[in-house]
Amino acid sequence: MKICKQYDKDGDIILYNGNCLDILKQIPDESIDIIITSPPYCMKKAYENSTDDINTFREVHKTIFPELYRILKPYGSICWQVGYHVNDTQTYPLDYIVYDIFTNNSSKLKYPLILRNRIIWTFGHGLNSTKRFSGRHETILWFTKGDKYTFNLDDVRVPQKYPGKRSYKGPNKGKISGNPLGKNPSDIWDIPNVKAQHIEKTSHPCQYPVALPRRLIKALTKKGDMVLDPFMGSGTTGVAAIMEDRKFIGAEIVPEYYEISNQRIKDAINGDAKIRPDVPAMEPNTNSAVARIPDEWRSLNETKKEEKSINRGEETRVREEKAS
Ligand SMILES: C[S@@+](CC[C@H](N)C(=O)[O-])C[C@H]1O[C@@H](n2cnc3c(N)ncnc32)[C@H](O)[C@@H]1O
Repeated sequence: MKICKQYDKDGDIILYNGNCLDILKQIPDESIDIIITSPPYCMKKAYENSTDDINTFREVHKTIFPELYRILKPYGSICWQVGYHVNDTQTYPLDYIVYDIFTNNSSKLKYPLILRNRIIWTFGHGLNSTKRFSGRHETILWFTKGDKYTFNLDDVRVPQKYPGKRSYKGPNKGKISGNPLGKNPSDIWDIPNVKAQHIEKTSHPCQYPVALPRRLIKALTKKGDMVLDPFMGSGTTGVAAIMEDRKFIGAEIVPEYYEISNQRIKDAINGDAKIRPDVPAMEPNTNSAVARIPDEWRSLNETKKEEKSINRGEETRVREEKAS
């Protein structure tokens, strides 16, 4: 396996420390099978400039897109994972911006980008908001370059809830209706995000879980294909690519994160990657101490219940008064 720090046409794994645009320009036309990434959201994270805003996000995407398109093979895939840009005044769904830029800038080209799925990645934990509903999802836009593409559904099927279900009418009445390999995972993916207790957590502030790019790689490429992540952060896409016997090119501009990605990818090559298997999130054990309402809340809840019943009584009185 040839591992390089600069672009090399014979490299199996290329890990570049620098601006992704520099290495993208060196990659030959139509040589990448899939691009999977999560770009900076321009939300003043440790790895962003304090002046970056939603316009920076737009400009970065307009600048990078022609290179991404050029190096992607016809019928290859782009999977762009984004959430929301939130500032003092507004919340922007970043996938709207990405969708517009990617489709408008390719619509007149030989192989326009076609959106295949807008996957909702949902997770149980995150910041608790007091001013709006707490955010518990982000999205992945999956585009193909042109109208053909690889889709290995059987490689990513998930267990059915009711595998023994049978058809209740029609010619297959009485026969088992599901697929023995499992069901289509659908476009809603419930995969725990990488927070403090997660086995994959590094010091990178915004990792996505290995299960996410791994599903995409299994479904949308074949063994030996070349996977690219222009904003590789802690190297999660690279870990997934190696675990699935694909080649990988990644770029990361911050040296500290670049070192983390190198170590994780080395671990993956040696079969030592720490990963959370792609299994459903655990249901809480209702007998565990943390699943029970703490005693301190019981009296509070009683007061709240009393207040609610007083309010309900008042509402009924007003309704009756109006009706009479
Ligand atoms: C959202 S994070 C990606 C996290 C990654 N998916 C993971 O699981 O660790 C975006 C990363 O892009 C890096 N970055 C920002 N601008 C870059 C550029 N022009 N070239 C390469 N990397 C860049 C940031 O330092 C950051 O680590």
